[in-house]
Amino acid sequence: MSDSQAVSAAVAKLYDTYPFPPEPLLDAPPPGYNWRWNWLAAYSFCTGRRPAFEDARILDAGCGTGVGTEYLVHLNPQAQVTAIDLSAGALAVAKERCHRSGADRVEFHHLSIYDVAQVPGEFDLINCVGVLHHMPDPIRGIQALANKLKPGGIFHIFVYAALGRWEIQLMQEAIALLQGDRRGDYRDGVQIGRKIFAALPPDNRLVQREKERWSLENQRDENFADMYVHPQ
Ligand SMILES: C[S@@+](CC[C@H](N)C(=O)[O-])C[C@H]1O[C@@H](n2cnc3c(N)ncnc32)[C@H](O)[C@@H]1O
Repeated sequence: MSDSQAVSAAVAKLYDTYPFPPEPLLDAPPPGYNWRWNWLAAYSFCTGRRPAFEDARILDAGCGTGVGTEYLVHLNPQAQVTAIDLSAGALAVAKERCHRSGADRVEFHHLSIYDVAQVPGEFDLINCVGVLHHMPDPIRGIQALANKLKPGGIFHIFVYAALGRWEIQLMQEAIALLQGDRRGDYRDGVQIGRKIFAALPPDNRLVQREKERWSLENQRDENFADMYVHPQ
């Protein structure tokens, strides 16, 4: 197995253990609205023009448990959506989520972004949120996706910024040090991380940042794992 394959296997194992995001499954379309997942709004924002058609082909690359995918289907009633992910566990939740809320214009593939060429055709909108920075070779990832973008199509990408995450990196290093060769056991990593936070004094900078910024979402182990014990 190459280094790159080993990283991808470790990432898939994390998300099989802790499918992300852990939002509850509903039996109705999700509440709220996000213009970035609406083809008309996103296209108009990027180009200053209305798109010539509404039956866009949309790709959700690294769909996780399908929170974004579900919005993409419901907010684009004429679109055909394809969603891919490396983690079979996350995909199973995504399928169940979309099935339960009636988001049926979607097909799922258990596929790495590196292999997206296997999906036929090209896409008008590619959504890739919180994924590229977890790839061992993000440039190869973004190129693979760009090759599937129709000329004139739009690409919505979200990636982490290093400077906004200094406290997260320090905590990741602390957990990895204490885990030693147990790294890769994500449940163990979550337990160790929670013990570190409990043991540090309240005025510690990591504790303060965690409290100010992340503690609400990190009550869930899935979020805590995604933040602090990620292999990549
Ligand atoms: C932080 S989650 C984001 C999920 C979703 N995009 C969202 O924003 O709710 C990252 C997802 O990317 C997937 N992933 C990581 N590397 C991938 C790859 N090479 N190909 C496809 N999916 C990948 C993981 O399995 C995981 O489900």
